[in-house]
Amino acid sequence: MRRWLVAGNWKMNNTIEEAIKLATTVRENTYDIKGGDIILAPPYTLLHGVKEVIEGSNIFLAAQNMFYEDKGAYTGEISPAMIKDAGCTYVIIGHSERRKYFGETDEVVNLKTKKALKEGLKPIVCVGETDVERDKGITSYVVGIQVRKALYGIEFSEDIVIAYEPVWAIGTGRNATSEQAEEVHRFIRGILKELYGTPSERTRILYGGSVTADNIGELINMENIDGALVGGASLKSDSFVGIIRKVSENRKC
Ligand code: PGA
Repeated sequence: MRRWLVAGNWKMNNTIEEAIKLATTVRENTYDIKGGDIILAPPYTLLHGVKEVIEGSNIFLAAQNMFYEDKGAYTGEISPAMIKDAGCTYVIIGHSERRKYFGETDEVVNLKTKKALKEGLKPIVCVGETDVERDKGITSYVVGIQVRKALYGIEFSEDIVIAYEPVWAIGTGRNATSEQAEEVHRFIRGILKELYGTPSERTRILYGGSVTADNIGELINMENIDGALVGGASLKSDSFVGIIRKVSENRKC
């Protein structure tokens, strides 16, 4: 069975002092939770500080992005080796905010996913439709293209994590219902099965978009939802730890 995974995407939030306080509280309140993986994804400047706090715990570190080149004249970018050096095991790739504000295409997402795997980082590849696309009834079409293009030319790896994050649910307080999410998760699992066969049953698919401690219990009960990518609710230790506890208690496995 797949291990559950809960990742906190801090986005562009927190100073070093706030980060250390938050990571320390999360660590202190999750040490007894077993059976899954907890991830913190702070901004680059906080990676090292957070790494020191979580060292020796069951919490992993992720970067929110990376570039696909090794080094050189790419002002403002950061390489896979750099984030690994800072302590990252995972890296979020193709978040909808990267796609929307920084023009990341499916091709770029594919290059980054390939590079992350090559460098031994575990990519959390984000996909999801906008509200207009959902209203038009083309959710599967859009998500299907995103998944296929992100994984184009990539062999199966258990390290790949997919995060389904409907854009209309991110930061809006309007989460997908467990049925809506499960429908897309099942669809994504079907694509993975087609691409990779039986091993794809081990791929973890996370739901993201206004996840809270109140709505995660129902979502995590669904067969193909293996955890959550959490934004806003990961910035407060109470809500983030609450989500992790609900996942560990309600996950049927
Ligand atoms: P949210 O963000 O939980 O604040 O909706 C989720 C995400 O963007 O990963």
